[in-house]
Amino acid sequence: MPCYMRLMRKEDIAQVTKIDHEVFPTLWPPTNYKRELENRLAHYIVACDARETVEEPRVEVASGKDVSGLMSKVKRLFNYMRFFGEEPPPSSREHVIGFAGFWIMADEAHLTNIAVWESSRRQGIGELLLISVIDLAMELNASIMTLEVRASNTAAQSLYRKYGFIQVGLRRGYYINEREDGVLMSTENITSGSFQAHFQKVRQAYAERWKLALPKITR
Ligand SMILES: CC(C)(COP(=O)(O)OP(=O)(O)OC[C@H]1O[C@@H](n2cnc3c(N)ncnc32)[C@H](O)[C@@H]1OP(=O)(O)O)[C@@H](O)C(=O)NCCC(=O)NCCS
Repeated sequence: MPCYMRLMRKEDIAQVTKIDHEVFPTLWPPTNYKRELENRLAHYIVACDARETVEEPRVEVASGKDVSGLMSKVKRLFNYMRFFGEEPPPSSREHVIGFAGFWIMADEAHLTNIAVWESSRRQGIGELLLISVIDLAMELNASIMTLEVRASNTAAQSLYRKYGFIQVGLRRGYYINEREDGVLMSTENITSGSFQAHFQKVRQAYAERWKLALPKITR
């Protein structure tokens, strides 16, 4: 699927939150992406469908304690409807089909999330997101990448293994709701010759398989 990667922006929060809720319904508390974007340690990328946009209502509900923001939006909507007798037209947005992010702590990039809309899976988007976060982590001078994944999540584990992650530990009952174990995975030093050689090889294979020049992450 033709898509491009770019850093996540404020206007992506609604779509990313929707994917997050759909894919991780039992995650509590759910991730607050507004706060994540304000967090200097956090870095998020979105994958956008290059062929289509989505329509969203112009009035977005403010989150959290932003009551004055919400009030002014309600007021603007009320004024619009008073004059035009209908809701404002929806605005077109880039269509986010997946996202991934990590936190940088010292020299470690800890993958916090990676997810693709169910209908867009198995088309190379998850792999491209992982390539992009590894690229970004290298750019930010990380030395290793780590993550936790459910023991039953064989699809994600297979993706991680393909990119050189290996199991380095097991957290018993880490996912509290289902009392499921968490598998800890890590790369070797991502600046090492052996990691780089493997990374370039799988990257190249990816580009040939999907017949594309690997897109750069736009800002
Ligand atoms: C994991 C996930 C991001 C993969 O996204 P995707 O776009 O479908 O993945 P891709 O098409 O790029 O596949 C890349 C690799 O992932 C692995 N993979 C993806 N789906 C798989 C599946 N259903 N079964 C086995 N392996 C799978 C394979 O190694 C695959 O490589 P291959 O095509 O050479 O076999 C996606 O399944 C997802 O969003 N899952 C729900 C969220 C989640 O579990 N995130 C991980 C949290 S730790």
